Amino acid sequence: MFLKSCCIYSTGVFSMLFLIVGIALVLSNVFPQSVQTIVKKDVVLKNGSEAFEAWESPPAPIYMQFYFFNLTNPLEVLDGEKPAVVEVGPYTYREYRPMEQVNFQDNGTKVAAVNTKTYIFQQNMSRGPESDLIRTVNIPAITLMEMFKDHSVMANLISSYMKFEEEGLFTTRTVGELLWGYEDAVLKALRAVKPELDDVFGLFYKNNASNDGEYMFFTGQQNYKDFARVDTWNGESSLSWWTSDECNMINGTNGASFHPVVTKTEALYMFSSDLCRSIYALYEDDVTVKGISGYRFVPPSEVFANMTLNPANAGFCVPAGKCLGSGVLNVSVCKQGAPIIMSSPHFYQADEKLVKDIIGMKPKKEHHETAIDINPLTGIILQAAKRLQVNVYLEKIPAFSQTENVRTVIFPVMHLNESVVIDDTSAKKLQAVAMLQNVVENVPFMLIGLGIILGGVFMLLMCRLKVPEATADERQPLLSS
Ligand SMILES: *[C@@H]1O[C@H](CO)[C@@H](O)[C@H](O)[C@H]1NC(C)=O
Ligand SMILES: *[C@@H]1O[C@H](CO)[C@@H](O)[C@H](O)[C@H]1NC(C)=O
Ligand SMILES: *[C@@H]1O[C@H](CO)[C@@H](O)[C@H](O)[C@H]1NC(C)=O
Ligand SMILES: *[C@@H]1O[C@H](CO)[C@@H](O)[C@H](O)[C@H]1NC(C)=O
Ligand SMILES: *[C@@H]1O[C@H](CO)[C@@H](O)[C@H](O)[C@H]1NC(C)=O
Ligand SMILES: *[C@@H]1O[C@H](CO)[C@@H](O)[C@H](O)[C@H]1NC(C)=O
Ligand SMILES: *[C@@H]1O[C@H](CO)[C@@H](O)[C@H](O)[C@H]1NC(C)=O
Repeated sequence: MFLKSCCIYSTGVFSMLFLIVGIALVLSNVFPQSVQTIVKKDVVLKNGSEAFEAWESPPAPIYMQFYFFNLTNPLEVLDGEKPAVVEVGPYTYREYRPMEQVNFQDNGTKVAAVNTKTYIFQQNMSRGPESDLIRTVNIPAITLMEMFKDHSVMANLISSYMKFEEEGLFTTRTVGELLWGYEDAVLKALRAVKPELDDVFGLFYKNNASNDGEYMFFTGQQNYKDFARVDTWNGESSLSWWTSDECNMINGTNGASFHPVVTKTEALYMFSSDLCRSIYALYEDDVTVKGISGYRFVPPSEVFANMTLNPANAGFCVPAGKCLGSGVLNVSVCKQGAPIIMSSPHFYQADEKLVKDIIGMKPKKEHHETAIDINPLTGIILQAAKRLQVNVYLEKIPAFSQTENVRTVIFPVMHLNESVVIDDTSAKKLQAVAMLQNVVENVPFMLIGLGIILGGVFMLLMCRLKVPEATADERQPLLSS
């Protein structure tokens, strides 16, 4: 009898204990926090760590897709009409981008590296071969025209030589030439007077099997938020192209890695040497990629907004005070003086006027925005798409009869989509981590559940214990109490 009731009472005590401990754990948030603490310690760039290996040689396949705008009405454009373009593409390349010349410094708090990118054409994922012809603006010619527009002797010389070579404002070249480079006759001739000029022009000329300079990254050893954050690029901790210190800042990572324990309220900064600036992305939505939950981060329109809408962007107007409007960035200073203007594809989130100026622009959020889906606990990228458009500033230059009567437009040449989806092996690992996280985080709830069940058992046993002792008369007050 004594043993029996002892058993019953300990059931009751344990029930209470489980409930109290469970509720205390839920309220104190200890388990999720300890999971985060472990991950923060683990995700560090150090030789041998999983995070380092993924950073050094990204396991997921990266694809770079190029879409060109084929000009259909060149003669009319010379007469002052709106350009009409047809988008052709994609031309897809597999991109390999390992970190090389990796060198740990300052007791493992920093790591120097170069990011070598190699592009291999993927015929089976492309619309056509690299030999497809594209008619677009003659970028080397326009670069020279802009360079020498106020220099009448040189302008005359170049203009005559262009006529001799039968080169005009527009040119038809293959996809391979436009991307990886072709020898330009006018550039070549000009080397006689300007030997520092390169006679080859290509949008990605010298970008294959090469890198964009030396980076110094923080490893995240001291602070998890600094994981893979850029400290310096080519030895500099800020840029010099823009006209305010704020705009010249190199913020965040290189966009290929992010720190762990990402929250919905933070801004993820990243620096892109293609774009010649830093940008940031904000939480937009919850997503699921290959069964793993993530947050979608997207650059808000303020990042590319004009000065009126976002005064912080005043420094991106070059030369100082000359602003082109929302959604476009004059990167001439960081592209050897070529009149290149960057935007989102199809002028997504840019001034409506830019879209209307070109026949064939159809901006669409889902196809033209940059988006990063990130696993919040580990900071691992589940899926990402970086999207950019390369445009050329086209205007009538009186010194060059080749420009005839063209209207001033920002002429789209090509847009690109650099994308990645997590590979199956990494996805499986991440699923296992998510499961473990789930189990650990649910321990307090399991304790509460156990407490409730034991409580139920305790009540049941109490009733059964009392029943044989009680007479029919005594049972009444017991039940009502
Ligand atoms: C990492 O360790 C391996 C083996 O000890 C060594 O061969 C390699 O050079 C190290 N890498 C770096 C970047 O220090
Ligand atoms: C395309 O071809 C490559 C080999 O050249 C192959 O590895 C890849 O799986 C193919 N992709 C598709 C989508 O067929
Ligand atoms: C682009 O336009 C040119 C001129 O009309 C044409 O020859 C070429 O085939 C077009 N390119 C593509 C890929 O459709
Ligand atoms: C890039 O370089 C690699 C090796 O150096 C080569 O195999 C590949 O064909 C090149 N890609 C292009 C687009 O030229
Ligand atoms: C860099 O970050 C600082 C805040 O940390 C911000 O004020 C500045 O505008 C950012 N610059 C760019 C170019 O993103
Ligand atoms: C900036 O954009 C807004 C909205 O498109 C427009 O009303 C404003 O005039 C623009 N400001 C400048 C300086 O272009
Ligand atoms: C772009 O910037 C360059 C260099 O500062 C400048 O010479 C050029 O006039 C700018 N282009 C436009 C369209 O503002």
